[in-house]
Amino acid sequence: MRKAVRILRDEHRSISAVLQCLQQLTRLAQDPAIKPDFAVFRATIHYIDAFPERLHHPKEDNYLFARLLRRSDATRPLIERLMAEHVAGARLLWELERAVLAFEQAWPRGAQDFAAAVDAYADFHWNHMRLEEQELLPLAEAALIEEDWEAIEAAFAGNQDPIADLRGQDFDRLFTRIVSIAPAPFGLGEAWRRS
Ligand SMILES: [Fe+2]
Ligand SMILES: [Fe+2]
Repeated sequence: MRKAVRILRDEHRSISAVLQCLQQLTRLAQDPAIKPDFAVFRATIHYIDAFPERLHHPKEDNYLFARLLRRSDATRPLIERLMAEHVAGARLLWELERAVLAFEQAWPRGAQDFAAAVDAYADFHWNHMRLEEQELLPLAEAALIEEDWEAIEAAFAGNQDPIADLRGQDFDRLFTRIVSIAPAPFGLGEAWRRS
């Protein structure tokens, strides 16, 4: 497998892990007797803003998608759809950021609206990643030439994904923070207690 493809898939796995954690904690917070630690939600949503939104999607747009469009005009409809999804994702993230603030202010009310915003972002992102992995990557592997892969690899290898390579020295502060404050069994923080 191409190094760039491996990096991209690893990044998708990292994003999935954080989204799954966020969804599970959101389920837990549906019980009005359990007061969530909102710092955990804020840290998780900050990760989504910092990593998929500001780093991962722009690198796909500017390197992978741009190079593939140059080599294969037949990929244009798919690439335009994926680029439009990146824009839609930014809007869903903005709604998620608003929803967590509203939930914190209104708690214990607002749990359902928050869960709807979390699910909307998570469902969107899973479908988006699936489309990239199942449809876009095979087309890229068929159409791109060596020079393209070198440019894409250089761009993707520069990503500092907080958790893509757990063996690396950069076990990033952002993910470490999520793990250290998320309640057991998701992380090392105190369990959220029933009042
Ligand atoms: Fe994407
Ligand atoms: Fe992606």
